[in-house]
Amino acid sequence: PLSAMEQEDGVRQELGSLHGMPLFKSFIEGWPQVKAFQARPDDLLISTYPKSGTTWLSEIMDMIYHDGDVEKCQRDAIYNRVPFLELKEPMYPSGVEQLENTPSPRLIKTHLPVQLLPTSFWEKDCKIIYMARNPKDVVVSYYYFHQMAKIHPDPGTKAEFLENFMAGKVAYGSWYDHVRGWWEKKQEKKILYLFYEDMKKDPRREVQKILQFLGKELAKETVDRILHHTSFQEMKKNPAANYETVLSSMMDHSISPFLRKGVSGDWKNHFTVAQNERFDQHYQEHMAGSDLHFQMEV
Ligand code: A3P
Repeated sequence: PLSAMEQEDGVRQELGSLHGMPLFKSFIEGWPQVKAFQARPDDLLISTYPKSGTTWLSEIMDMIYHDGDVEKCQRDAIYNRVPFLELKEPMYPSGVEQLENTPSPRLIKTHLPVQLLPTSFWEKDCKIIYMARNPKDVVVSYYYFHQMAKIHPDPGTKAEFLENFMAGKVAYGSWYDHVRGWWEKKQEKKILYLFYEDMKKDPRREVQKILQFLGKELAKETVDRILHHTSFQEMKKNPAANYETVLSSMMDHSISPFLRKGVSGDWKNHFTVAQNERFDQHYQEHMAGSDLHFQMEV
């Protein structure tokens, strides 16, 4: 059992339900402010299902916004440079409060599924970049993240967590609904849909896609610097990017570092043959009829 102080701190929270989607109770308490959030036309939203490369994309975007100036991008931790829209924890400023004090043009992070995005983003026609990652690597990364980031419920065993993930009984609900929902929205809205696996394979090409989407040009040397600074090795040792500045009662990097492995296909070290077969079957059922495809390794 948790002490009263730990509960107040938002440690090992039980999940509540936000319009049917499992989410931290503290975030649900802050929902009225998130729902009423006023986007600005020059906001850029970074949207992902958890553990899909949010922090990586955030660092790339901040570097692009600062023309590859490494020093400027070390001005603060990534979670302050790119505030987390629906974040709400006791004792901390909420994401909405942080954003109200952020000068434009703002970069904003969210994990909300498309149907729960505050309507203001659509009304203001904000640019949105979505990044998706294959679900096998997501579930492994999410499992280790549950262990180290104490806001989450205890994940149980790997096998138990896999069951919960497949059933959508984790924070932010079904991965399938998330990636499919945002994919379909792309047909009517200004959304650049990227994949973690493509970013691993050819980060230069993906950064070019982003620049084109932004209507921005950067010199080759600047892009080189961005690619170097946002590599896994560089980000892992960068205190402004690696989350080591978070209180250890909230994130324990000795259990598993935030920048854990940063590869595609690590699931092979974690799935049993039987789990993989079952997952493939489940995946096929839940992706049926979609033209959205994932690379399970690169
Ligand atoms: P692993 O746990 O598989 O290592 P998010 O930022 O959405 O929480 O995603 C975290 C995942 O992205 C972690 O995956 C982390 O290591 C990986 N990641 C972060 N920065 C990265 C980078 N520069 N290159 C590759 N992967 C990165």
